[in-house]
Amino acid sequence: MPRNTPPGGAVPEPPLWEQMADRARDAAEEGERLQKVLARVGFGSRRICEELISDGRVTVNGDIAVLGRRVNVAHDDIRVDGAPVGVLPGLVYYLLNKPEGVITTASDEHGRDTVLGLVPEEPRVFPVGRLDRDTTGLLIITNDGQLAQHLTHPSKGVEKEYIAEVECSSKGVPAGALRELRDGVMLDDGITAPAEVGQPEPGVLRIVIHEGRNRQVRRMCEAVGHPVIRLVRTRIGPLRDTRLPPGRWRSLTLDEVRELSGSVSASADDFDMEDEGDEF
Ligand code: URA
Repeated sequence: MPRNTPPGGAVPEPPLWEQMADRARDAAEEGERLQKVLARVGFGSRRICEELISDGRVTVNGDIAVLGRRVNVAHDDIRVDGAPVGVLPGLVYYLLNKPEGVITTASDEHGRDTVLGLVPEEPRVFPVGRLDRDTTGLLIITNDGQLAQHLTHPSKGVEKEYIAEVECSSKGVPAGALRELRDGVMLDDGITAPAEVGQPEPGVLRIVIHEGRNRQVRRMCEAVGHPVIRLVRTRIGPLRDTRLPPGRWRSLTLDEVRELSGSVSASADDFDMEDEGDEF
């Protein structure tokens, strides 16, 4: 509403509360200084963060940032060396060592135990992808929908490493079957992409895949005549943890979140979010 102009033309100062509200609104619109945001999320002191910016290593919405740049962490895509910076307050990232017998869904209509019963109730989170009920090992649980979507997208090719104990003779899985697993196995939903497969000891396979199809490792092993007895996920992209006991979780460190984001950022520009993976 226009303020009344008194006779003589002088515009009176707006009341103090209105000035303060204006200032707060301006500050919110202008955002925070980029170096302050970077320092807050752990890139080092403000001076170090200023250097990162001066060195041209920081981008905001795809443009190289300059010193003095202000950002709005709710909207701006901030990256250091190409890796998105996890700056949104309220985002949590848990790494769970999923035990056997627990299902990987947000809720179960039959009242079975789900992985969400093993992490804090608040804030609300969801598992990234799925591990079978009998599979154990590493699972990411978060409320960061964007990272989850990126991680589960097939075009991202994030590596997942599994140790599979399989049925076989005492000599182990023969070379021909290992080759098939490496080259691609024909499953009912198509041939699998090349995988890294080793046999550290007879009957124990180390399998690294990039895809995330439903029960993929079990179906691959079964297809080459060596059904899985036990399956453990030991790595997701850069994330490993051999000390986390089954059933326990921990928060990812900022460096881990950054590394994880970096591992999916490489092809971030050329993928279509419609095309989602069904498992991870
Ligand atoms: N592949 C499987 O077969 N099961 C899992 O839980 C994960 C990958």
